Amino acid sequence: MQIRPAKKLDLFPVYLFDQLDQDKAKVEATGADVIDLSVGDPDRETPAHIVQALCEAARNPDHQHYPSYRGLPVFRKAIADWYEQVFRVTLDPDAEVLSLIGSKGGIGHIPSALVDPGDVVLIPDPCYPAYKPGIVLADAKFESMPLYESNGYLPDLKAIPASICKRAKLMILNYPQNPTAAVATREFFEEAVAFAEQNEIIIVHDAAYSQAYFDGERVISFLEVPGAKDVGIEINSMSKTFNMSGWRVAYAVGNRRVLAALGKVKSNVDMGVFEPIQIAAVAALRGSQDCVTQMRSLYQGRRDVLVEGLRSLGWKVEKPKATFFVWLPVPEKGKPSGVFASEVLQKAHVLITPGKGFGDCGEGYVRIALTVEEERFREVIQRLKKSNFVY
Ligand SMILES: Cc1ncc(COP(=O)(O)O)c(C=O)c1O
Repeated sequence: MQIRPAKKLDLFPVYLFDQLDQDKAKVEATGADVIDLSVGDPDRETPAHIVQALCEAARNPDHQHYPSYRGLPVFRKAIADWYEQVFRVTLDPDAEVLSLIGSKGGIGHIPSALVDPGDVVLIPDPCYPAYKPGIVLADAKFESMPLYESNGYLPDLKAIPASICKRAKLMILNYPQNPTAAVATREFFEEAVAFAEQNEIIIVHDAAYSQAYFDGERVISFLEVPGAKDVGIEINSMSKTFNMSGWRVAYAVGNRRVLAALGKVKSNVDMGVFEPIQIAAVAALRGSQDCVTQMRSLYQGRRDVLVEGLRSLGWKVEKPKATFFVWLPVPEKGKPSGVFASEVLQKAHVLITPGKGFGDCGEGYVRIALTVEEERFREVIQRLKKSNFVY
């Protein structure tokens, strides 16, 4: 029998990082030691007290059954308390908090919960590639909001045509932003809330990097802005803040009607998070936050080594204020980002991500993840120098 996948799948590109993995494997097959600076996956281990909580909870037979869809009450309360402590945002753990199997899972389901076929979803360009598939699966359409360096990588909401605003039901925002590393101002979030109210557009703010900020300048939550809870939700994750990317645990907070809709989709198509993982997440949220402070200084140190090293080779690069990424223009003017990244991989055996992979507006840029040790960044600079990536 011939198996024919759904036509919709033709609309999915090969997932960016799958493609990069294949490119890397080809170079590694020649015996090369590739330094992989492509994915924003924390390289350090999950703090011991979190692992310990998982192990203890896993031994308890009460935690070995199907988990609740919305999340254990103790987990939802810990999230609400953490939001109060970190952002001064008050949440009702019963109705304004929902557990997710990673933010990617929540992001994938959100369009099915909120949009009808033909509705428009506004997404940033460049953006995290996982925003598009959920929109395609919901038979909706996405419209890009270009992010330009000249505007601090904030979308110009006034430039969105009225005809698109009319058809738009949902807007996805993400600050600190992947891939540009930009941080939103309070004024921008205020403008976004007013825009959402005026045009009846629900906002989903992806705050996966909310704790990965540098130089002591904390970043704000979307929900800190008055009225935000009336127009949308924020998705936050344990992955980056607590080095828990493999654990698949995250949560959505904010507007109760949006969360109820998302919860309805989830209860029908997936499950809750394994309870011992939720218990471990409680240990992370309620325990000492020293590990989070250490995470920030670790990435800040790497950022400084990388940026200063690249500058010494004549590259034009700014120090990011947040995220695990450095976003910089391709140093050879006019060269496509894919060609440049491929040359860096072939000659220096360093894997970086072409900006085009994040959207058309990412062309002309590359993204470098800060997810290897400082020593390896020194080696990256040596290799780039040796391979003559000097300007
Ligand atoms: C902007 C952004 N949102 C969400 C995610 C996914 O996070 P999670 O591990 O919670 O699915 C990532 C992962 O890289 C990301 O960059």
